[in-house]
Amino acid sequence: MPNVSLKNNNEVKLFEVHENELIWDELDRLGTKLPAGCLAGSCGTCRIEVLEGAQNLSPLSVVEKETVHHLEEQYKKIYGEDFLKGKTLRLSCRARVTGDISITPFKEKI
Ligand code: FES
Repeated sequence: MPNVSLKNNNEVKLFEVHENELIWDELDRLGTKLPAGCLAGSCGTCRIEVLEGAQNLSPLSVVEKETVHHLEEQYKKIYGEDFLKGKTLRLSCRARVTGDISITPFKEKI
């Protein structure tokens, strides 16, 4: 079973999750609620930064791709073109885990 390492401030929690399940659902099942709104990929509230293992997530669906693109455009407008350089943004309610990953909630306001 894949491991999800959740870094939040100075705390790191480790979760053993079921393969091919949604990050948000698995952490919820294990007692940790990430921020959420629609849980359908359109609001972006559940956004996370993938610190390691981005290749161990399902490819972006059309709806996740559109929402992430919209978020990226907003962040660039507010924080500048380089703000997201080297950062991988995903939606925890849409991304499925296929291997070990390390994530952190994406807290910067837009
Ligand atoms: S909760 Fe709305 S996009 Fe994930």
